[in-house]
Formats: sequence, C-alpha cells, structure tokens
Amino acid sequence: MNLQLKPHSGVKDHPIDSFRLDVLEGLKNSPKKLSSKYFYDKIGDRLFQEIMAMPNYYLTECELDIFKNKTADLAKLLIPGNEPFDLIELGAGDAMKSTFLLSYLVEKGTNFTYMPIDISGNILSILNEKLTSQFPALQITCLEGEYFEMLHKAASLSDRKKVILFLGSNIGNMDIEEAENFCLSLNQNLASGDRILIGFDLKKNPHIILNAYNDKEGITAAFNLNLLTRINNDLEADFNLSQFQHYQTYDPITGACRSFLVSLKDQTVTIGNENISFEENELIDMEISQKFSTDKIKELREKSGFENVGEIKDSKKWFVDTVWQVK
Ligand SMILES: C[S@@+](CC[C@H](N)C(=O)[O-])C[C@H]1O[C@@H](n2cnc3c(N)ncnc32)[C@H](O)[C@@H]1O
Repeated sequence: MNLQLKPHSGVKDHPIDSFRLDVLEGLKNSPKKLSSKYFYDKIGDRLFQEIMAMPNYYLTECELDIFKNKTADLAKLLIPGNEPFDLIELGAGDAMKSTFLLSYLVEKGTNFTYMPIDISGNILSILNEKLTSQFPALQITCLEGEYFEMLHKAASLSDRKKVILFLGSNIGNMDIEEAENFCLSLNQNLASGDRILIGFDLKKNPHIILNAYNDKEGITAAFNLNLLTRINNDLEADFNLSQFQHYQTYDPITGACRSFLVSLKDQTVTIGNENISFEENELIDMEISQKFSTDKIKELREKSGFENVGEIKDSKKWFVDTVWQVK
C-alpha cells in the first residue's frame, strides 16, 4: 500500500493560491462561476455520499447494477490477456462501485495495482483505510491531485499497461467542449492498447433527471452552499449562506443539467481584501451534469481518436459504461 497524499497547508485539499485565484477569477466573470471540483472537502465528501444514497439520485443505483451484476462482462471488456496492469480510477471518491470490480479481480488472482486519483485527500484516506482492511492482498497507490497531474505521476511510477476508470458520469461535470478536450488529452497521455471506461448518464425522461438534483431534503442545496462555507473558512470570506438559494435546471434538448446559487439581495461579499458585488437574483453557475445521447458519445469517441471496445448498460438502460481503447 502506498499513500501519496499532499502535505497540507492552509487549505486542506488544494494549494491555497490556485483555490483563491480560481474563486476570484470565477466570481469576477459574467455570469459568475465557481468550479465544482472544489465541492469536495471533508463536509463536501460526506454530503456527496449522502447524495449518492438518495433514492432519486438514480445514477448510483444504475452504475452499481453494472458493477455488481455484470462484473465478469466488465472485466472481460476492460482487461485483455494476462499482462499485469495499473487500474487507475480518476476521481475515485469512495470507490463504492469499483470495489465490486476490485473484489472480482482480487479473487481471480489478477496481477494489478489499483491507483485511485482524487483531488480530495480526505476521501482518499477513507478509501485507503477501507480497501486495505477489505482486501489485504490488494496493491494500492493513492494519488492525491488533479487528473492529468496524477496520471503523469502514475506513468512515472510504472510503465505497465494502463486501464482507466472514470465513473459516476464525472465526465458530465464538463460541458461538451471540455469533455472533448479531456478525452483527447486522455488519448494523448496513454499508450497504444491502453483502455478506458467512461460512465455516461443517458438522456431520459426530464422529470427523472431534474428530480435527481432537486431533492426536497435539500442535500444537493447543502452540497452547493458548502462551497461558500469552504471559501469563508479557507479564503477569509464572509458569504452569508442564508442570502443564497440553490436553483436547478435541466434542458432536455442540450442535455445540460445545471446547479446555480441565486443571490437573494443586492450584497457585497469580501474575500480576503477583495470585494465582490452581487445584484439581487444574480446567479453563480456552480455545476453542470451533462446528459448524453448515444450519438453524442460516439461523436466524442471519434473526435478523441479512441476505438470502440464495447459497452454495458444497466437494466433500466439509463446509464452506460463504455470501454474504449487507444489505437
Ligand atoms: C461526483 S464524485 C464521483 C465519485 C466516484 N467516481 C463515483 O462515481 O462515485 C467526483 C469525484 O471526483 C473528484 N474530482 C473532481 N474534480 C477532480 C479533478 N479535477 N481532479 C481529481 N479529482 C477530481 C472529487 O473529489 C470527487 O471525489
């Protein structure tokens, strides 16, 4: 077991300077924007686990159906031959779904190292503890940091074949153009024959999608508002959370499901020595959760230069895990 967590200073999970820079730049934009990658501190990680447990948040159940009930098919698509490999999971979180694949591979005596990458050192520590006790024989190297920075690190640690997991429709947290650039960079950073699995949330009845993000219990709202708390704590800011309200939209034509925070009055927020003004009803664009058509997924694969290996859908056909290979 190898835990490559960053020494923390000031901000717990991110270098404080880039956090401050990104926040200020985003809030000076029009429309104002914050990056959802900063949602995940200790409280954010816990709130996300609560979201995953909500009955309306169907994404977890769908992908769990694939990982739990179609594990052998999944392993067959992902792992050709007997060559040892590194199984790298981007944005692993608590790896609730991938644990079923890990269990299957460990049982089969497969020769691999699991490398979860996450920007949250907190969730990696929890994951490391869980996996080490559940699978004492599992070789695990936790990598704390941004996706590509840590992919480079993984490549520097071993030259074995790479199998990449990118679950939970994390790809949906990018707009289509960002997703295209992301897949292209993935292709360029991997070697011929390496494989990737990407989880895509498919377009479906718009009510089902909106309900997944618009829960009455207010957990998604708390998840969004927690980023303001994090800015208050880590960047000496004075957001008054009661003056911001969560608002969720879904556009069934484009497939973009978006979270916003709405300013409930004209107000000025201080962040360190900077003042940011909000007009009443002004929005902060917090997160996109893009939904995909099968045509869009095919287009994304073709544009980024991967060849298709196969795909597995859940039994409701609401979610798809696709497997692509670097040519
Ligand atoms: C929506 S959660 C999904 C977790 C897991 N993949 C699943 O399906 O349950 C996103 C995870 O990705 C991590 N993450 C988000 N942006 C990241 C980035 N740019 N680099 C590394 N990790 C990131 C977050 O910390 C969080 O744990």
